Amino acid sequence: MFEKDTLLGKHILITGGGSGLGLAMAQQFYTLGAKVAICGRTEAKLQAATAQIGEGSLYYVCDVRDPAAVTAMFDYLTEQWGHINGLVNNAAGNFLAASEDLSANAFASVVDIVLKGTFHCTSEFGKRLIQSQGTASTAQEATTQGGNIVNIVTTYTETGSAFVLPSACAKAGVLAMTNSLAVEWSTYGIRVNAIAPGPFPTEGAWSRLMPDPSIEEAYKRGIPLGRYGQNEELANLAAFLMSPMAAYIQGGCITIDGGERLMAGQFNRFVQWMPRPMIKQAFGAMKSSRNPA
Ligand code: COA
Repeated sequence: MFEKDTLLGKHILITGGGSGLGLAMAQQFYTLGAKVAICGRTEAKLQAATAQIGEGSLYYVCDVRDPAAVTAMFDYLTEQWGHINGLVNNAAGNFLAASEDLSANAFASVVDIVLKGTFHCTSEFGKRLIQSQGTASTAQEATTQGGNIVNIVTTYTETGSAFVLPSACAKAGVLAMTNSLAVEWSTYGIRVNAIAPGPFPTEGAWSRLMPDPSIEEAYKRGIPLGRYGQNEELANLAAFLMSPMAAYIQGGCITIDGGERLMAGQFNRFVQWMPRPMIKQAFGAMKSSRNPA
């Protein structure tokens, strides 16, 4: 479905692009013809990642919590590329903790990265694009200068989740930002969408969110498709949203979780508890006991 020039002309910044899902997206965008930049807090990690992505890919050391650093990063990328027309807000912080044990600083550390960091980058991105459109000489030129934002949220944005309260609150805020700007910035040809990943076992997430390997197996059984997501699968979805193929998708939040979010359905757990022939046998026995021959 993708061609090698599907993202030609896209100049995309991926925050937290030094590893995991961020790096997978950067690699896929680059393969499809985009100019790609990644940012993060650790230079060595970013350097290694750009070597993996390919020649011409850029990195910038930046903590998205710091608005001045974000401005400096956008200045640098504007200088390099002329303009930036794609942004993936992927940088995140998360850890497992009982909510009653959270300090104000612990709550803030996640909200500052996820919600405020997303705002800082989105705001710089939008301001610059909108300003550049003001200098366009024709309406058509202004439209072709549109842009794309993809925000990485989570499936518990909708439901909330135990033990990750700061992340649940911050990601819900990012979804509200997605929906708000999707309407407000349509005028400027800026599409704003979100991806809600379920379980993707990246080192960054798993080292903080999977306390024990024995839980990992039990957890997997709770996913209807019976496996975790692969980074390339999420990267493909992000590439699609960035591409002209998704030109009419605005304010969407696309879930990619192997069906996990639906497991709340009252009888869905039967799928996990018993093999299918046993379920059918039990249902058959119940039916015959109600309707004896
Ligand atoms: N449980 C409870 N509180 C925790 C915690 C944990 N596992 N980890 C950190 N905190 C608290 C700290 O105790 C501190 O609060 P305090 O000052 O009241 O003691 C506060 O959070 C900030 O911690 P600190 O380590 O100074 O902040 P940081 O800015 O260096 O780190 C985090 C931010 C905590 C989000 C860190 O995990 C991080 O940088 N993560 C980035 C990568 C990531 O999380 N990836 C996974 C994405 S799914």
